[in-house]
Amino acid sequence: MNQLNPLAEKWLSIVLTTPFNATKHIHSHQDEVYKIETPSGCYYLKISKSLKAEHDNLKKLEGILNAPRVINFYNADEKDYLLISELPGKNLVELIGEWTKLEVVEKFAQAIRHLHSVDVAKVFPHASTNDVLSHGDMALPNIIISDQSKVGFIDFGQLSCGSPELDLADAIWSLQRNLGPGYGEIFLKKYGAVAITPKIQKALKFKYHSPESE
Ligand SMILES: Nc1ncnc2c1ncn2[C@@H]1O[C@H](COP(=O)(O)OP(=O)(O)O)[C@@H](O)[C@H]1O
Ligand SMILES: [Mg+2]
Repeated sequence: MNQLNPLAEKWLSIVLTTPFNATKHIHSHQDEVYKIETPSGCYYLKISKSLKAEHDNLKKLEGILNAPRVINFYNADEKDYLLISELPGKNLVELIGEWTKLEVVEKFAQAIRHLHSVDVAKVFPHASTNDVLSHGDMALPNIIISDQSKVGFIDFGQLSCGSPELDLADAIWSLQRNLGPGYGEIFLKKYGAVAITPKIQKALKFKYHSPESE
């Protein structure tokens, strides 16, 4: 559906109290994602069966990480509607044409290193000492880079704490999907010292096949 449903239209007009224009985002796949433009700024609206976890996770990250703010949340007709602030900029897939592939890999690694350096206990008080903040869906389209090169993170439905290898393996998959094979090792080098666990090893091996072949 490229047009917002009437229920969402009505809810947004109450919440925003201003005229708005909704455009379906071309990169959204799992959820319906719309960019909402108003005279005073932009927002994003996600519509899906369950967005409660993403809502709760974004609340936990407020003031800790550059991630969207929750503006409003609504449930109707067995769907969740999550309205969040825009992180202005472009996601790392949109930057592939503008930057060299190596620049994309380097920024991706830097972003994940930053995420993993956050004090995890502020978000998960019961985390173990070796745990890091784990995004859970670490992929190039989920990193937003502003014009000033500031890094932002979105799509937090699967936030948890745990070993860095979870995000690193996902990141290697994403690099292969979006940049092609052969960037895994460079990525890990840019990220910094990391143990090559079987999970990471497995992700690196996929560079010799297409991900669909597995
Ligand atoms: N708050 C936001 N600020 C800027 N861009 C966003 C925001 N939310 C979503 N987007 C854009 O929409 C795309 C899809 O949103 P995302 O939350 O990642 O949905 P999905 O669960 O479908 O991956 C992102 O890759 C990004 O380009
Ligand atoms: Mg996403």
